[in-house]
Amino acid sequence: MNPITFDLFADAEPEQQPRLDRIGEQSCVLRGFALPWLDQLLPALDAVLAEAPFRQMITPGGFTMSVALSSCGVLGWTTDRSGYRYTRDDPLTGKPWPKMPEVFLELAQAAAREAGFADFVPDSCLINRYVPGAKMSLHQDKDEASYAAPIVSVSLGLPAMFLFGGFERGDKSQRVPLFHGDIVVWGGVDRLRYHGVLPIKDGLHPRLGEQRINFTFRTAG
Ligand code: SIN
Ligand code: FE2
Repeated sequence: MNPITFDLFADAEPEQQPRLDRIGEQSCVLRGFALPWLDQLLPALDAVLAEAPFRQMITPGGFTMSVALSSCGVLGWTTDRSGYRYTRDDPLTGKPWPKMPEVFLELAQAAAREAGFADFVPDSCLINRYVPGAKMSLHQDKDEASYAAPIVSVSLGLPAMFLFGGFERGDKSQRVPLFHGDIVVWGGVDRLRYHGVLPIKDGLHPRLGEQRINFTFRTAG
């Protein structure tokens, strides 16, 4: 192939643009956005979990959550019989939550920027582990000190059906399928929208096995 033919061929190649699906005025899904970060993310996740293992928490109503939780960052989200709150120490180990790995922070900031939120500085990353059958009921993220910053939510492993609702629990929800590597960002006028996850279907993900891992970055303090 001579250089001229080669150039023509290269021009004809479709541009590989990351896909942005808008799901609200200030919310979107960045399809596959986390994939290039995976080789750095997974070892960093293992290091966090070695310090602060997954555990199933109890809601104020006395139910054990089907999703297992951990956190990293200055603040970690917890729930028990006395309520929901952010804490500086992990109640399980009595030690501060693990530091947020640099690669987590960089990914969260890059995704926020792509979604139109410059200057996102998360101080908390909730880590959710769903095994098949686990779900998260519709809720608002409202334990943060301010709602000025968006929520950046990374999906890894088994697929999920994300519910993106309105401002009242009873409002109709959109069903948004989420796959390995997708990132949902919601903020601004959409910051307090109800959201949840339908029960995860049985499956085996080639990289993560029989689970879905979700990172939810927030500015909590
Ligand atoms: C959450 O709202 O904390 C989790 C959302 C998700 O797992 O996608
Ligand atoms: Fe949430």
